[in-house]
Amino acid sequence: MPIEKQEFRRVLGRFAAGVTVVTTIGDDGRPYGLTATAFTSVSLEPPLVLVCVDKQSDSHPHFHTAGVFAVNFLGVEDEHLSRHFAVSGGDKFTEVAFRRGVTGAPVLAEALAFLECRIVEVVAGGDHTIFLGQVEAADARDGDPLLYYCGAYRRLAT
Ligand SMILES: Cc1cc2nc3c(=O)[nH]c(=O)nc-3n(C[C@H](O)[C@H](O)[C@H](O)COP(=O)(O)O)c2cc1C
Repeated sequence: MPIEKQEFRRVLGRFAAGVTVVTTIGDDGRPYGLTATAFTSVSLEPPLVLVCVDKQSDSHPHFHTAGVFAVNFLGVEDEHLSRHFAVSGGDKFTEVAFRRGVTGAPVLAEALAFLECRIVEVVAGGDHTIFLGQVEAADARDGDPLLYYCGAYRRLAT
């Protein structure tokens, strides 16, 4: 028997996660993106990461068609970006500074780090889709990360 949804959520909340904005591009070149904590590194050689995207999200179909995505790691000062990209639909990029990366996926100017990926495998994962991406470009700057724990934004203790 699977665990109850409420209990599953409660326990998952005890896993401290970094916060990312995962971006991709539409057929028409329009940028799409959503806040995501379901990100993990997978392999060093070749360099692979994965993200899990809700099948109900507006961005979901565009990952399939674009075949690329960027993962933007948010810094402690970027809570507003996390909240902004967690609201579904509309053009989220009108007031957000970004550039097109080498894959064409949007890289956020404020991000602490980014990884640009080409999708090499798509795996069904219940109500989410797992996109496995080979990393083609990446960079990082110094700074503290934005964290999410027990349903709230957190920062590293100093
Ligand atoms: C802290 C946080 C973490 C989230 N993590 C994920 C995630 O890993 N995968 C996902 O599909 N949605 C995640 N969401 C929900 C999406 O950000 C949200 O559904 C968003 O509105 C989808 O945008 P879209 O419909 O415009 O694509 C998260 C939201 C928050 C606030």
